[in-house]
Amino acid sequence: MRLRRGLTLALALQAAATLLAAGAALAIAGGWGDAALRATGAAAVAALGLAWGLGGRVASALTEPLRELSDAARDGADGRMRAVRCESFAEVRETIAEFNAMVARADRTITDLDRGKSTLEAVLAHMSDGLLILDPDGVLVLVNPAVERILGVSAATAIGHSLIEVVHHFELDALVRQAIREHVPVTRELKLHQPEHRVLRVQANPVRGRRGEFLGIVVAAQDVTDLRRTDLIRQEFIANVSHELRTPLASLRALAETLRDGAARDPEAGPRFLGRIVSEIDRLALLVNDLLDLSAIESGSAKLEMAPVSMGEVAREVAAKFRPVAERRGIMLRVDDLDEVPEAWGDEARLVQAVVNLVDNALKYTPAGGAVRISGRAARELVALSVADTGLGIAAEHLPRIFERFYRVDRSRSRALGGTGLGLSIVKHIATSHGGRVEVHSVEGRGSEFTLLIPRAPEQVVAAR
Ligand SMILES: Nc1ncnc2c1ncn2[C@@H]1O[C@H](COP(=O)(O)OP(=O)(O)O)[C@@H](O)[C@H]1O
Ligand SMILES: [Mg+2]
Repeated sequence: MRLRRGLTLALALQAAATLLAAGAALAIAGGWGDAALRATGAAAVAALGLAWGLGGRVASALTEPLRELSDAARDGADGRMRAVRCESFAEVRETIAEFNAMVARADRTITDLDRGKSTLEAVLAHMSDGLLILDPDGVLVLVNPAVERILGVSAATAIGHSLIEVVHHFELDALVRQAIREHVPVTRELKLHQPEHRVLRVQANPVRGRRGEFLGIVVAAQDVTDLRRTDLIRQEFIANVSHELRTPLASLRALAETLRDGAARDPEAGPRFLGRIVSEIDRLALLVNDLLDLSAIESGSAKLEMAPVSMGEVAREVAAKFRPVAERRGIMLRVDDLDEVPEAWGDEARLVQAVVNLVDNALKYTPAGGAVRISGRAARELVALSVADTGLGIAAEHLPRIFERFYRVDRSRSRALGGTGLGLSIVKHIATSHGGRVEVHSVEGRGSEFTLLIPRAPEQVVAAR
């Protein structure tokens, strides 16, 4: 408004100057001889000249900032927001200041939008769940990178197509179509076979605009494969434990019933049955202890007391514990001199427990007349402790599974020897919780060698002692 008034003023000034100049020129040309008149004429011409000049300046003082303004507006439209500088009339200055304020506001809004967009893009790119957005016609408008990984489709080719065109999964398509048709949330767990076997929890939710209009659906696909696998392992574990408990419980019940039904009064059978009851209870206690150990090691609730550990000490401690058993079974138990072996970095009690399990097995699965040997060596950044026997050995097809919980090559033999089927899985967990591992070499009928590999104690810790 003010700008238009300013322009009108300048144009009026210029027009008036033009008219007056023309009048004066006419008067002079008319040959008015009178000196006074001439003087007046000259004054008028001078005044008019001034007026013309002034009008011109006023006009340019207005048009220049206007040109600036329109250039700046054009730049702004091209995405280069900038303020305009102006030392013109107060009114024009005000207008320019308003323009500049508008530019600053627009710039802030654009920066905010940019930041929001980048945040959204970062969230979409890094979320582990797959995210798809479909319009009301079921056409894909957005696909995040996780979808590319989970469903094996590329965003570039998927966008603009319907879901069934890019993912050939009819259940998924049906779920999405139901959400679009009925405008309701739909959740289902689906099995995927391509690009690999997965279990997906898919959730489709309708999206509505401000006025409640249906804009399409957002589909989130969560990969729950590992979760379901863990569930399955847990179920299997519970089934196994129940089974392991049922057997000794059944025999305890049978023994107790036999005693109740008269065997208790039999001077020979009575004590024998009681003896078997005691050994069944011992077996149960062993199983419960192993289960507790395993769960403590697996859950990490039993914190490792890390310190440099001498493998020689460990070997001697375990050998001392088993010497009477070995003698009783007629097996030679030999321990190498391990004093030159570097110290391991670990929890001594746990390492002893692991070696106990290995020597226990070696003695159990080696017939009388055989030998068991404990040896050790440094193996790069690890320390190795091996338990070798000249026993039954393990057939190649069983080797990959013997570290599984409850896996036994010969179930009845293991049970007869008081085994729980948990010894080796405890050894494996102790090794991995130390950042090490356990290896096995075995030849059926010749013997086995189990090697525990544990990281070395750091030099500076050993040196400081
Ligand atoms: N030194 C060995 N010689 C032969 N077989 C072995 C040896 N150590 C382990 N095994 C086999 O691996 C199985 C699993 O061992 P483990 O987990 O200690 O359970 P168990 O309680 O049966 O000893 C055993 O049942 C046995 O079949
Ligand atoms: Mg065992």
